Amino acid sequence: MSISLTYGCSVNISRQQLLTVTVEAGELAQRSFRSLSAEQVAYKSEIDLVTEIDHSVQSLLIDRLTRMCPGARVLAEEQQEHRALTDEPTFIIDPIDGTTNFVHGVPHYCVSVAYAEEGEPILGAVSAPALGEVFSSERGGGSYRNAERITISPNGDPRRALGCTGLFGDSRAGRAAAAELMGRALDHLRDIRRMGAAALDLCYVACGRFDLFWERGLNAWDIAAGMLIVREAGGRVSDVHGDTDGVMFSGSVVAANPQLHRWFMETVLRG
Ligand code: IPD
Ligand code: CA
Repeated sequence: MSISLTYGCSVNISRQQLLTVTVEAGELAQRSFRSLSAEQVAYKSEIDLVTEIDHSVQSLLIDRLTRMCPGARVLAEEQQEHRALTDEPTFIIDPIDGTTNFVHGVPHYCVSVAYAEEGEPILGAVSAPALGEVFSSERGGGSYRNAERITISPNGDPRRALGCTGLFGDSRAGRAAAAELMGRALDHLRDIRRMGAAALDLCYVACGRFDLFWERGLNAWDIAAGMLIVREAGGRVSDVHGDTDGVMFSGSVVAANPQLHRWFMETVLRG
């Protein structure tokens, strides 16, 4: 299904159009995959990397999306200043999620783009060019991996569940707390993965590869598209306090089917 969303004359974009632009951006990133030079990598902090490619992918996306939808605002990770999110139509962009993987030649990285209104995502696309997959969703219209409809894992038993988490991209102190929480979860789950690209990790939950994902210390651009894709695949998405409103701006995410989500909140987070 592909519905055009029109708000006045300013915003008119469908899931398919967002997907096409996101795939084009992914192809641009992929052309530099495993051929980056050291000069193309910079440090936002001791552990937080950015590449020239993050900037060129972001420019391509902003150019394409603002030409298609001149009335929309943009919140993108590598912008010099991040404008506060309003209720206005806004594109939320992570030009490369999983930059550390990208720099090290690990294929689990993606381009993530969401279109949000009133603080909630209503279109999302996540392209993983090194893996040949693109995930997309439209509020009320389900979620897709390439052209195939996807649904979340129905498994509610933690002992049979494969979890996934992240360990704070830009804070060593945050990582210690994240590792402690991961240790507690590991006592119950079949196993845990730390893949390194939150937006794509959420898509892996949406299509049932992972049963559960959680992470603290995230930004809106890590969460926006992936959370919609999980919800439209039948999953429950909240912040670590269990709130389901405004998750994008909460800094944290817990995503799973409703049964496993409840278990995680009660047994691991509050236990
Ligand atoms: C990071 C990735 C990583 C997560 C970090 C994020 P970036 O995003 O999503 O998996 O653990 O918290 O910052 O920096 O690669 O866009
Ligand atoms: Ca990024």
